[in-house]
Amino acid sequence: MLDTVRLYFSDTFGSADGVRVIMAPGRVNLIGEYTDFNDGFVLPMTVDRGVYLGIRPRVDQRVRIASSRFGELIDVSLGDFKRPEPGHWSCYVLGVVEELRLLGLISTGFEAVIDGNLNLGAGLSSSAALEIATAVALQTIFKFEMSRIDIAILCQRVEHRYAGVMCGIMDQFASGLGRKGHALLLDCRTLSHVSIPVALGDYRIVIISSEVKRELASSAYNERRSQCEDGVLVFKQKDPTVEALRDVSIEALEACGGELSEVVYRRCRHVITETARVLDASAALGAGNLTQFGALMTQSHLSLRDDFEVSCAELDCLVDIASGVEGVLGARMTGAGFGGCTVTLIHKDSIDTLREQLLTYTERFSLNPEMFVLDGNGEAGEVLAN
Ligand code: GLA
Repeated sequence: MLDTVRLYFSDTFGSADGVRVIMAPGRVNLIGEYTDFNDGFVLPMTVDRGVYLGIRPRVDQRVRIASSRFGELIDVSLGDFKRPEPGHWSCYVLGVVEELRLLGLISTGFEAVIDGNLNLGAGLSSSAALEIATAVALQTIFKFEMSRIDIAILCQRVEHRYAGVMCGIMDQFASGLGRKGHALLLDCRTLSHVSIPVALGDYRIVIISSEVKRELASSAYNERRSQCEDGVLVFKQKDPTVEALRDVSIEALEACGGELSEVVYRRCRHVITETARVLDASAALGAGNLTQFGALMTQSHLSLRDDFEVSCAELDCLVDIASGVEGVLGARMTGAGFGGCTVTLIHKDSIDTLREQLLTYTERFSLNPEMFVLDGNGEAGEVLAN
């Protein structure tokens, strides 16, 4: 990718002299869905694909950024541009630029190209990877002090302010702080985190893209978030120390059940049981108990499907197909849902069988799911020539 990015840079801006290339990986969440904005726990890991960004400072205020995927070039002035459409690729980049400028951390322009090998909109956090790549790239050339945690928080704010998605911290944190060979157990309340080695022996993590684009995902996402907040208000009346669903036990949920609407009750039940599953799954992974880890993944899917209602027929079908293959320990949707990807823990000798079984999916939905076996995973930072 390094050479491709440099070539694209010189094609776009005349030469590639002095270009630095930064990569930020996408992520797959192993377990812990919709727990981040409820102050709970998550267990994502980075993938081996990501956003690659070539960058070079300018002495004037011009900001020129090209996207290879979209064949577009934007040309604006630092601190003086029209806000891009929420969800357009440039909203993530310019959002980071503007937030850093407002903090006084950048005062001149730059030129950049964006490339990558991450499926866009496939639920592997391409937008978080783009935000993190932009922030780390600007830090590389302008050399300001900012911790990776603060970078992740800034990028989350960009998602809120520029893309209109009231997301939690998981994706930006995973892309910015995930380490090679490890999953990241993150406490989304305190942001304390532990890297857990992913030692799978003969097992592999397989990601399958449903090829369903998540059209209405941002409004449904924000709706889920406010349903969780509705739940918190009810629990808070009983116990003022409750700040988030993280603080609510399953017993407290059962005791309050009648006071919540049926939908809010199920949303809360998902978050409360999922938070417990993340801790159990992390312990199982740490202890090498992959059978238990896989069982928890599948339970997570059922809870997302039935209680949180963020799955869809296509994701359910992929999980059902995987669950029917011998050698599969667990499978679930990953990320926000409504499309995107599933993650499966599978014995390496069963991978071909799973691939063959995906024909059923193609027959049913006329979609060709992309399947890939996770082979190592990346870390955000500058890509240097060997
Ligand atoms: C999206 C958001 C995350 C998280 C997941 C669901 O990926 O960006 O913050 O809420 O959905 O777990």
